[in-house]
Amino acid sequence: MIALGSDHAGFPLKTELKNYLDSIGVEYKDFGCYTPVRFDYAIAAQKACDAVVSGECDKAILCCGTGIGISMAANKIKGIRAAACSDYFSAKYTRAHNDANCLCLGARVMGVGLAEELVNVFLTTEFEGGRHQIRVDQITAIENGEKLY
Ligand code: RB5
Repeated sequence: MIALGSDHAGFPLKTELKNYLDSIGVEYKDFGCYTPVRFDYAIAAQKACDAVVSGECDKAILCCGTGIGISMAANKIKGIRAAACSDYFSAKYTRAHNDANCLCLGARVMGVGLAEELVNVFLTTEFEGGRHQIRVDQITAIENGEKLY
């Protein structure tokens, strides 16, 4: 189950991505916003990411104008590793190397076709573990207030 969230700027892209997820048989739950009326991205980020942290959803896909504001908000949530991506390589390797559990996309940055490709590679790429697990654990340690140095 994928948690979706957006602000008003990301709403049109999120709507397109729902059609795409339907077409590839991926289930999702939309945590808002539900109309193109102005809506602050931090609220959507927190609602969708809380569902990932609780285990209700496996990953989140968030959309705002740039993908950046909503990723900043998402990354404040303990247990969330959010990546704002606008290229295929980054969307693939943030899964393979960072075990990202939240993809953030900019509706004013990219077209629907690229966004679909990024969603597809993000959802189908496995975390490689190994040396990358050590680094992800270090991110978690920072999150828990530990010093790495
Ligand atoms: C909304 O106008 C816009 O600022 C927001 O969607 C996003 O781009 C912020 O990072």
